[in-house]
Amino acid sequence: MDPFDPTPDDRFTFGLWTVGNVGRDPFGDAVRPALAPSRIVERLAACGAWGVNLHDNDLVPFGASAAQRERIVAEFKAALAEHGLCVPMATTNLFSHPIFKDGAFSSNDPKVRAFALRKTMDGIDLGVELGAKTYVFWGGREGSETDACRDPRTALARTRDALDFLCEYVRERKYDLKFALEAKPNEPRGDIYLPTTGHMLHFISTLAHPEMVGVNPEVAHETMAGLSFVHGVAQAMEAGKLFHIDLNAQRIGRYDQDLRFGSEDLRQAFLLVRLLEGTAGGARYDGPRHFDAHAYRTEDEEGVWDFARGCMRTYRMLAQRARQFDADPEVRALTAAQDDGELDPLLAGFTPEKARRLRALEFDVEARARRGLRYERLDQLMIEHLLGFR
Ligand code: GCO
Ligand code: MN
Ligand code: MN
Repeated sequence: MDPFDPTPDDRFTFGLWTVGNVGRDPFGDAVRPALAPSRIVERLAACGAWGVNLHDNDLVPFGASAAQRERIVAEFKAALAEHGLCVPMATTNLFSHPIFKDGAFSSNDPKVRAFALRKTMDGIDLGVELGAKTYVFWGGREGSETDACRDPRTALARTRDALDFLCEYVRERKYDLKFALEAKPNEPRGDIYLPTTGHMLHFISTLAHPEMVGVNPEVAHETMAGLSFVHGVAQAMEAGKLFHIDLNAQRIGRYDQDLRFGSEDLRQAFLLVRLLEGTAGGARYDGPRHFDAHAYRTEDEEGVWDFARGCMRTYRMLAQRARQFDADPEVRALTAAQDDGELDPLLAGFTPEKARRLRALEFDVEARARRGLRYERLDQLMIEHLLGFR
């Protein structure tokens, strides 16, 4: 067996819309035929993926009748059972249909907001029926080109109302389902509300059921905003709010590229995998690792499966490099505590006694300031591990 072949423990997932992407872009038409969901399930399983995620309309077309829905869902369930794939996450398409051109939950039109809520309740029912434990909210159209149209505070209040309503829906139905909010700074709107994971984390604390709601950060989105994805994810983990993650690759300052995981900025990808796998000592992220990306527009179907295998393979190769890096004695020496740790208890948890002892401490300020930290050496070691020369 190839050591980089995926295993179920990796919890690798793809969306129907990711490997099913037909290569349409704002300048050009589809370059690949649409793949039937059952074919995607079969091929993803053959590539070694663990699960498949979907928007309501990736499976059941917008406006389908109840009978059509039943038939489609039954066929899909049969494919899942045959190929041993699960559906850990589901979400709602609240962006494709023109009714959502000015947003869904934040629209100025209460009829649109009502339609969005109803569509999401139906999407939740569908997701739960398929076994999903996480429901993602990506507000692609929740934004503006002109802020003359709406007070952004109103948009936030409406979004809160919608999420509170839907949390109560889930509770009333006794579904075992958590929500994961996905931030994006722009595209398709000029500006999208709640543009980063940090904004989301605070917004969650204002909800009626914050314990049900976490985040779904995406590499491309935080990178588009010029931020450190690793820091955003770490903050979510530290807050116990990393409920899901969208992995892909992106160059800063560009449109949302959704590239194969690890195909840009290998160093950030390495640090991300290291964080998620906990090789440096922190807790390991145990949720799905979802590749929200798609194959280059140059590819035919075979290229799509090359893309899918590439995402998973690179993740596993980076995980191996991260384990080796963190086990390297020189790295361990360089990252070891900079002191004997004797001061640590004094620095957390104020007491008047601790304050008094801090005041009494003697510092050789100049000597402390003169010390080199050897991060150059540490970073070079990381590069050498990453390049496979160590
Ligand atoms: C994007 C988003 C989407 C969402 C998806 C699930 O930029 O297109 O990342 O792919 O993740 O709609 O919510
Ligand atoms: Mn995206
Ligand atoms: Mn995404």
